[in-house]
Amino acid sequence: MTQPARQILVTSALPYANGPIHLGHLVEYIQTDIWVRFQKMRGHEVIYVCADDAHGTPIMLKAQSEGITPEELIETIGREHRADFSEFFIEFDHYHSTHSDENRQFATLIYGRLRDAGHIARRTIRQAYDPKAEMFLPDRFIKGECPRCGAKDQYGDSCEACGATYSPTDLKNPVSAISGVTPIEKDSEHYFFTLGQFADMLSAWTRSGSLQPEIRNKLQEWFDCGLNDWDISRDAPYWGFEIPDAPGKYFYVWLDAPIGYMASFQHYCAKHGLNFDDWWQPDSQTELHHFIGKDIAYFHTLFWPAMLHGAGFRTPSAVHCHGFLTVNGQKMSKSRGTFIKARAYLEHLHPEYLRYYFAAKLGPGVDDIDLSLDDFIARVNSDLVGKAVNIASRCAGFIHKSFAGQLAESLDDEALYAQFIDAGERISSHYENREYAQAVREIMSLADAANQYVDEQKPWVLAKQDGQQQRVQTVCTQGINLFRVIMTYLKPILPQMATQAEQFLQCEPLIWDSVRQPLLGSNIHPYQPLATRVDPAAVQAMVEASRDNLAPSQSASGDAS
Ligand code: MSP
Ligand code: ZN
Repeated sequence: MTQPARQILVTSALPYANGPIHLGHLVEYIQTDIWVRFQKMRGHEVIYVCADDAHGTPIMLKAQSEGITPEELIETIGREHRADFSEFFIEFDHYHSTHSDENRQFATLIYGRLRDAGHIARRTIRQAYDPKAEMFLPDRFIKGECPRCGAKDQYGDSCEACGATYSPTDLKNPVSAISGVTPIEKDSEHYFFTLGQFADMLSAWTRSGSLQPEIRNKLQEWFDCGLNDWDISRDAPYWGFEIPDAPGKYFYVWLDAPIGYMASFQHYCAKHGLNFDDWWQPDSQTELHHFIGKDIAYFHTLFWPAMLHGAGFRTPSAVHCHGFLTVNGQKMSKSRGTFIKARAYLEHLHPEYLRYYFAAKLGPGVDDIDLSLDDFIARVNSDLVGKAVNIASRCAGFIHKSFAGQLAESLDDEALYAQFIDAGERISSHYENREYAQAVREIMSLADAANQYVDEQKPWVLAKQDGQQQRVQTVCTQGINLFRVIMTYLKPILPQMATQAEQFLQCEPLIWDSVRQPLLGSNIHPYQPLATRVDPAAVQAMVEASRDNLAPSQSASGDAS
């Protein structure tokens, strides 16, 4: 490695601890994990942290309805999340919870610094209140008739029937979704983060921090509308951290959620003897990259950098937003069986196939990405099984039959090998820039070239000709080495398959630099299939198992706030 190693702290958004991981979430965790694995393979120091987002009203109510404590709920869900991620080979360096000592400490510290610097305001606001449940009602817990079209049973912020958006006070005949009684209006004092004081700082950060053009434009719109104070408090009963100097008031879940990145990292530091401040002080030379969905850009590109700056910490180097997942061109739907949980996928299909498919579709922008199930089957079968893995299976047999598993001492075509190595720089810049679809296209064109090489050299014909034994060995050694380069480039996407390839090749762990040196004269193991075709019946079975015939055809998104 000629360039000095970078120190990179990477995060994915913290999933809510009130529901299972689904394929939509996985777009993000797979995108981030590929980037992290790639950076590690390039020799950089990378720490990838995440956590469960364990606070807020939906978690409190869900625990109540299940007759368990919120602690029990977040414990169970946290365990399920960790298992799902690990089976998809998403390899966090640490996975924490926002309901943790570290997070309480950092939330308290940051709030205290913001308050002392004059960035917290207090004022009384009037809100909907459920007199029976004795709690204030978030917008989404008020239902009523749409003020525009009259549709019944609509939520407090928008109408699913006609698409109108409005404020909950506009609803006709409003009722609390918790108790069913009519809400009343009630006053309460709230705490606000004065975002407007950070307008200059934020526009400077927007210019220096690395943001996608689409997000930069969105930010400009938000600046133009004016930066409003942000309500960071909630009244009891609330599931979260009590505000230290305000008994009965709690931090809104979105205040302590991003602070969870720091809490998770702090836990990692304590365990591995790293200095937290080196990574978070304002002039830190390290990098901080957040991967998120476009729905939560506002929190990560306005509130979060402003909070960090106001509290005397560094700001993010980059916030990378991705789009939303659709399945077969439509929003995921329980009634169509396309609201697919990570667990349901794992029961029917190999996790690396989804990693491959998402990589093949992911670009650097915020466009939505579509999982077309037919295309998924076709691409995995033609690219992974038909092209990449096929090269090894075509060459390994000869090496074993006639040469006792030993590779030749030289390559048959050095120039072709050099071309494959040269492609590595282009592919690596695609990974760096999150142009995974482009990286996959380049890698698959190398696989085409390798197969074409084997087609032209025809080792199966050479093997039957007198005096051509040496060439059979060098040709197959060439093929095996081209395969090795391809598996190296695919390793961020297919970590398990790459590890199996290392075992088959009996070589050192594949990294960008080591592949410059071809494998010559060494022994390889007999070839075992590294990938098998996707059976369309397995995909069908997964959809059937995910189908909820009782679900309304309007889909639930499974999110919460
Ligand atoms: N808890 C908040 C994030 C707090 S970060 C300090 C949250 N949780 S979430 O579970 O709703 O979503 C976690 C991540 O998954 C978000 O970045 C979100 O954009 C992403 N996705 C959730 N559903 C998705 C799709 N259907 N498609 C793509 N990404 C999606 O938001
Ligand atoms: Zn309506």
